[in-house]
Amino acid sequence: MDITVARVASLLGSIRPPSDKSLTHRSFLFGAIAEGESVVRNPLLGEDCISTLRCLAQMGLDYRIIDGSLVVIRPAPEWRQPVEPLDCGNSGTTMRLLSGLVASRELDVTMIGDASLSRRPMKRIAAPLRLMGATVEGDTPPLHIRGGQLSGISYESPVASAQIKSCVLLAGLRADGETWVEEPSLSRDHTERMLRGAGVDVLGGGTKVGVRGGSRLNGFELTVPGDISSAAFFMVGAAIVPGARLDINELSLNPSRTGILDVLLQCEADFAVDNERLDFGEPVGEMQIRFRSGLRPFRIEGALVPRLIDEIPVLAVLASQCDGVSEIRDARELRVKESDRIELVALGLRAMGVRVETFEDGMAIHGPAVLRGAEIDAHGDHRIAMAFAIAGLIAEGPTRVAGSESIATSFPGFEKELESIIVV
Ligand code: S3P
Repeated sequence: MDITVARVASLLGSIRPPSDKSLTHRSFLFGAIAEGESVVRNPLLGEDCISTLRCLAQMGLDYRIIDGSLVVIRPAPEWRQPVEPLDCGNSGTTMRLLSGLVASRELDVTMIGDASLSRRPMKRIAAPLRLMGATVEGDTPPLHIRGGQLSGISYESPVASAQIKSCVLLAGLRADGETWVEEPSLSRDHTERMLRGAGVDVLGGGTKVGVRGGSRLNGFELTVPGDISSAAFFMVGAAIVPGARLDINELSLNPSRTGILDVLLQCEADFAVDNERLDFGEPVGEMQIRFRSGLRPFRIEGALVPRLIDEIPVLAVLASQCDGVSEIRDARELRVKESDRIELVALGLRAMGVRVETFEDGMAIHGPAVLRGAEIDAHGDHRIAMAFAIAGLIAEGPTRVAGSESIATSFPGFEKELESIIVV
């Protein structure tokens, strides 16, 4: 599927971004191990989160989707051995987090994924699960796990990854003794917050957290706020389209996810955040953002990287409009996301007329550039597809983005939402 975008006069209006993907995945996974029923309001029913629900259902989870806006989850008293392999589709979160739950049960499970997921590294979760006593085969999918009674470990993760941290903590919930994970800098902490919300005593804090084996989760009710990683496309749209002004509502503002706001500050973009409140342990608020000319270049490195890891493709588009060279470093992880995002971002921006240098761990982007429309292949990566659709809004001539069916994994309705704020 292709999306074709032409230059617009402006962007105006108010949007509620789609519900947070990380929180939705976790609400389904945690609902599956809680005691009693859980209710998830406003879940993201994109393909990735549906993969999580389907895999859980193969092991006995009972769920009902009501009016597309509410999911009621009833856990199985005993997880059952799945007959077929668990198909995680495009979703690394499904495969990595579910691995922790499967490995700590008497199950023999094969997990598969689409072409993109089949190339992504699973050794990062296989290694700690093996240390805990599970049998795990396959350093890329298919992943074969024989689970059972695990032993707690203290694991030093080589990368700041919420998926590794969550996998190990979820396995630790049923292991003997305590299980700890330490990471080099803080990755998103939704797992810790949601476990606490469900009554689990999460040990430690910040970059070193743990759980006690035998900890139980209570059934919960939660309303999933809008996803800052999806809102990012509109934030950048508003920052670079002349005359644009957008209100973004019901936005998740978890500090481990708000790195994009730090970048907007560095750029001296015109934005404000207000009405901050807590919902099930997660900060939520509203944002207003409008176009300003003469944006400053920015630098992303170190502990900022995990706080905006999924936003980097669209932040690279922002960089192309800043007044000078912006640099992104310490972001090697981008090479093993749904695609090699360093290569695809550089390829796409160059095709649109931007000077970009790439490094093993990032890139330097020279702005401000006059963008020209181009043919972009998103290679099935949703965030690449959306980033270049946003770039197309300010380009001379049409931009055609091939491979945009992948957008449905995280942002069903992206095109409609975009159309609703375009001023032609
Ligand atoms: C996610 C964590 C991030 C992110 C992914 C979702 C999660 O991956 O890129 O889209 O829900 O835990 P890593 O934790 O591996 O960096």
